[in-house]
Amino acid sequence: MSTFAPNCLRGKAAFIAGGTSGINLDIARAFADAGANVAVMSRKQKRVDAAVRDLEQRTVRALGVAADVREFAAVERAMQQAEVTMGPLDIVVSGAAGNFICPASALSSNGFRTVVEIDLLGTFHVLRAAYGVLRKPGASLINISAPQSTEAYWGQSHVSAAKAGVDMLTRSLAVEWGPEGVRVNTIIPGPIEGTEGVARLAPTDEIRREWANANPMRRLGTGRDVTDAAIFLASDASTWVNGTSLYVDGGQVLAAGRDYERSWRAMQANSPAR
Ligand code: NAP
Ligand code: COA
Repeated sequence: MSTFAPNCLRGKAAFIAGGTSGINLDIARAFADAGANVAVMSRKQKRVDAAVRDLEQRTVRALGVAADVREFAAVERAMQQAEVTMGPLDIVVSGAAGNFICPASALSSNGFRTVVEIDLLGTFHVLRAAYGVLRKPGASLINISAPQSTEAYWGQSHVSAAKAGVDMLTRSLAVEWGPEGVRVNTIIPGPIEGTEGVARLAPTDEIRREWANANPMRRLGTGRDVTDAAIFLASDASTWVNGTSLYVDGGQVLAAGRDYERSWRAMQANSPAR
């Protein structure tokens, strides 16, 4: 059951770049369940077809296009196809991303470039290609960033550089496109259980348990945590929210690397009772 009014996105046209798996597919499903028509785009035709079959069970119109966010002309064609099928776009999500752990000292130039091209250049391509087919005024654009955009993590220099760029692109376009009634915001999810991202960065049960224990809410996030935030930003509940970065992370960013509770408990255990 959704927290939001049934059909709160009824008749809206949504385009989700990278919408064929994980968090972005959850968002596509949630938008469809809320009444939106939904187009998804990613590289692999098989994934696109599976996502479309899923979305067709939930909404009136579902469309899938196989394209790489690094290729501007292909992204532009996908946007135009979506407009022909669903009308002007009310909601666009840019969520395609690539990640792997690699220290900068071992990262090749092409490895760095690849992640920056998917996450940052890809997001520019998605938003820029969408610009011509957006509903104006009224459209809501949502970029999916990551905690690496503001926090430094070992082995994540490429991702931090890319996602920090995504956050600033959000703010820049919020200023440029706000006067036309187009809002641009970012969601910054914490670690979301069951996703490819968590499988790559926290590959064992033990690490995932440690991450959950280090989070102020003592758990990892769920798909639902992110989809509720996405519906809020996509809907008329947020018509004056523009250029913001919405952390959906249980407060993790506030606690990262600053968990002194363990030290305090160790000191308590070692000192005589006061
Ligand atoms: P995921 O399941 O791997 O999803 C990535 C999606 O992007 C897939 O649909 C993939 O499909 C598509 N994609 C990848 N490269 C592409 C390209 N060059 N062009 C077009 N599509 C491409 O990842 P996830 O873990 O759910 O993460 C989704 C988003 O959330 C990412 O932006 C990530 O940075 C962000 N995030 C995730 C977490 C987490 O805990 N998972 C935390 C913070 C932020 P194809 O393979 O078919 O292209
Ligand atoms: N460690 C170090 N370098 C790596 C790497 C790793 N684990 N994986 C890839 N690279 C490097 C490659 O060696 C290559 O550089 P080189 O030409 O100097 O050897 C470069 O990155 C590009 O690799 P390639 O496999 O050609 O890229 P791709 O465009 O096919 O795929 C990736 C992009 C690498 C990001 C791939 O992991 C992917 O498609 N990820 C999408 C899913 C994902 O990451 N989900 C989590 C989102 S949070």
